[in-house]
Amino acid sequence: MQRVFSAAQPTGTPHLGNYLGFLKQAVELQESYDCIYSIVDLHALTVPRDPDVLRNDILGVAALYLACGLDPKKSILFVQSDVKEHAELCWLLNTLTKISELKLMHQFKEKSKEHPESINMGLFDYPVLMAADILLYNTDLVPIGEDQKQHVELTREIARRWNMRFGQTFTLPKAHIAKTGARIMSLLDPAKKMAKSASSAQSYVSLLDDAHTVRQKIKRAVTDSGSEITLSPAKPALSNLLAIYHLLSNKTFVELEARYKGRGYGEFKSDLAEVVVAFLSPIQERYTALLKKPKKLHEMLSDGAARARIIAVSTMKKVRANIGIGI
Ligand code: AMP
Ligand code: TRP
Repeated sequence: MQRVFSAAQPTGTPHLGNYLGFLKQAVELQESYDCIYSIVDLHALTVPRDPDVLRNDILGVAALYLACGLDPKKSILFVQSDVKEHAELCWLLNTLTKISELKLMHQFKEKSKEHPESINMGLFDYPVLMAADILLYNTDLVPIGEDQKQHVELTREIARRWNMRFGQTFTLPKAHIAKTGARIMSLLDPAKKMAKSASSAQSYVSLLDDAHTVRQKIKRAVTDSGSEITLSPAKPALSNLLAIYHLLSNKTFVELEARYKGRGYGEFKSDLAEVVVAFLSPIQERYTALLKKPKKLHEMLSDGAARARIIAVSTMKKVRANIGIGI
C-alpha cells in the first residue's frame, strides 16, 4: 500500500482553506492509503509563540482533526516533537542543502517580510525540517495546498541528491494537490490566499466560528462587479465563493450556476452561509466533546508517536549507516 504523509502547524484554529486544501484530502486518502499525519510543533516555533498557547493549540488542533474525520484507527496521528528523529534527520539533510536553494523559498520570503524583526535560522531551515518529516516515512504522496508545492519539490531534490551520493535510501515523494480548493482565497481580497496570519479575522472562516460569525463574514465577503453568478477569471472573488460552495455541497459548478441564474449575490451568499454553517456545526459538536477528554487525546497522540517512531527509527538506522555515524 502506498504511504501518505502530511502535516500542519498548531497555530491558532484552522480555517476553511486548511480544510479544503489539506484536511479534506487527508480524510479521503485514509480509505485507500497507509496514512501518517503530524502536528508539526517544531515548525510552529519558527515564529515567537507563548508556551501555554502552543500547548493548548496542539491539543486543540488534534481534537479538530479528529472531529473533521481523521481516524486514529485508520491513520497514525502524532506530534512531531514526540519523535526525535525529525530533528536529527533535519540536521543531516542540512549538510546536503544549499543556502542558495533555501533563499528561493516563497514562504521564507513572505514570512521574513511579515516578521522582519525575527528572521531566525528556524524560519530559514523550515523546508529542510519539512523534508525530514516526509523522508523519514518513505512517503509516496503528500496532500497539501498549493503554497507547499515548492517545499515538496525541494524535498524531492534533497532525496535525489542523497540517493545519488549514498545509494537508494529515500522514496521520492509527490505532492498531491486538489484540482479545486488547493488555494482558497481571502474573503476580503481574492488576490491573497486565506491565511490565519491575516490582519483581519473577517478574511477567513475559522472551523470554530459560530453560525452568527459565519453568516456575517460571508455577507461581508467582497464580490466582483456585475450581478451574474458565474465561474470566471474575471470574477475572482465570486469564483472563490463558488469553489467553497461546490466543495462543501458536492454540487457541480454548472448546477450552481443554473440554480442562481437570474438571482443576485445576496441570495447566493445567504445560501452559501447556510451550507458552511451546516458543514461546521457537527464538526464543532464533535470537537467540544473530544476536548472534554484531554487524557484520551494525549493517549491517542502518544500511541501515534510510538507507531511513527518505529518507522522513523528504522529509516534513521539506514541513514546513519549511509553516512558513517552510529554503530
Ligand atoms: P498550515 O496551517 O499553514 O500549516 O497549513 C496546513 C495545510 O493547509 C497546508 O497543506 C497548506 O498548504 C494548506 N493551506 C493553507 N492555506 C490554504 C488556503 N488558503 N487554501 C488551500 N490550502 C491551504
Ligand atoms: N509546511 C507545512 C505548512 O506550512 C506544514 C508541514 C510541515 C508539512 N511538515 C510537512 C506539510 C510535511 C506536508 C508534509 O503548511
